[in-house]
Amino acid sequence: MIDKFSVPQKELDKQKEYAEMVRTVLSSRFTQAPKAFVHTYGCQGNVSDGERLKGMLAEMGYEFTDTPENADLVLYNTCAIREHAEDRVFGNVGALKQYKKSNPDLIIALCGCMTQQKSVAEILKNSYPFVDLVFGTHVSYKLPEFIYKCLCTGKRVIDVTDSDGNIVEGIPVRRDGTFKAWIPIMYGCNNFCSYCIVPYVRGRERSRDFDAVMNEVKEVVSQGYKEITLLGQNVNSYNKDLPEEKRFPALLRAINEIEGDFIIRFMTSHPRDCTFELLDAMAECDKVAKHLHLPFQSGNDRVLKEMNRHYDRKRYLELIEYAYKKMPELSVTSDVIVGFPGESYEEFKDTLSLIERVKYTSLFTFIFSPRPGTKAYDMPDPVSRKEKGVWFKELTDLQERIAGERTALMKERTYRVLVEGEAKGEGMLSGRTEGNVIIEFPGEKSLIGTFTDVKVTNPRTWIVYGEKV
Ligand code: SAH
Ligand code: SF4
Ligand code: F3S
Repeated sequence: MIDKFSVPQKELDKQKEYAEMVRTVLSSRFTQAPKAFVHTYGCQGNVSDGERLKGMLAEMGYEFTDTPENADLVLYNTCAIREHAEDRVFGNVGALKQYKKSNPDLIIALCGCMTQQKSVAEILKNSYPFVDLVFGTHVSYKLPEFIYKCLCTGKRVIDVTDSDGNIVEGIPVRRDGTFKAWIPIMYGCNNFCSYCIVPYVRGRERSRDFDAVMNEVKEVVSQGYKEITLLGQNVNSYNKDLPEEKRFPALLRAINEIEGDFIIRFMTSHPRDCTFELLDAMAECDKVAKHLHLPFQSGNDRVLKEMNRHYDRKRYLELIEYAYKKMPELSVTSDVIVGFPGESYEEFKDTLSLIERVKYTSLFTFIFSPRPGTKAYDMPDPVSRKEKGVWFKELTDLQERIAGERTALMKERTYRVLVEGEAKGEGMLSGRTEGNVIIEFPGEKSLIGTFTDVKVTNPRTWIVYGEKV
């Protein structure tokens, strides 16, 4: 399907030509394949972008290394969600200066959500002269062209063109994992939650073509991937302007029909677009993990309104109640923000009571971080960081108690687990249940990447221990 977001084939062909040209240049300059160090910060969507960046680099003739020390190209794929995330990147980029001294031909490149902000691009341009290449989220498919220009002109390349966004199909993917695959189904966001930078750096919401998604899923299933995670800032609004048979619940059902032994996950669901229909689809599809990540952010209606979330506490709890009724074993997780500008302690207590009601398996908890350019950045924020820290601790203590109560119920029960790797301790493996609880047990390394049944013997709060049955 060609829509206004699709990048023309001619442009993609041009990039293929650049990739070939880079390959030729590299083979004339290097006796062994040059090494790229690619590091991605932020969400799974960014990780998935990183896999495509690596796909392009591999096409250009790069191989990969785990450390920046001996790299010929360092690429940081950045995140801008909180100030702390940005500070980390600036720190790590600063540290690269020394490598440039020992290897003047090293190419240092930055891309992702952080660089898409004009203010950050300016800082990099003016204060980080050793950074060779800076590009934003909307032009990442031009990586071959950028690298070619860096290699051949020796000049800095900066392209942070703003746009509503695009959809690029056909970029090669070099997946990080061998049994877990990330599949983006939509990009961008239209929700403009008042605290959030994503809509500014990722462009407008746009969905990938249904068949393109299906084909990618079929491909990874045929390659033996065991866990497929469908990605988007708001997967529930996938194809929301198209007829029902193309929307998210239909996509889940269609993927569920694909033959093979694999599990389907998705993130993130926005409560605003979460429907009973979606929960029905989840309940009815045997391959869909009974795990719902449904960020509520705050339990207080006034705060939710100020956050521009477009649902209230009552609606959120209705969805949760329906979900638990349909899927009694459901594991629910969420994101929550503490100390949104103007939030009072009384209002924060509504967040605590909501957590107590829903009984989450786990929570991603964040103290509000002001993001320049967002609406909340300019809101009066009288509560001190220290005070917010005290609230934060109260929240995490509560969640710790609830998580412990939940995992205690797992004792003596058997779970189907996807074994993910080795754990600390001789002969120990680590895996995850459908509900996304980490489970550790003794076993052979050959089990990694397969499903196995594990009986819980010793549940702790965040990790449960068990034995293979
Ligand atoms: N699209 C997803 C969330 C993506 S960002 C959704 O709407 O649910 C992941 C999480 O980061 C958010 O859910 C929110 O809890 C947190 N977050 C985003 N911006 C933030 C900010 N400025 N300060 C603190 N936390 C933030
Ligand atoms: Fe950010 Fe809200 Fe969009 Fe999520 S839905 S990415 S929190 S603006
Ligand atoms: Fe960060 Fe961008 Fe994801 S801001 S959380 S990497 S969409």
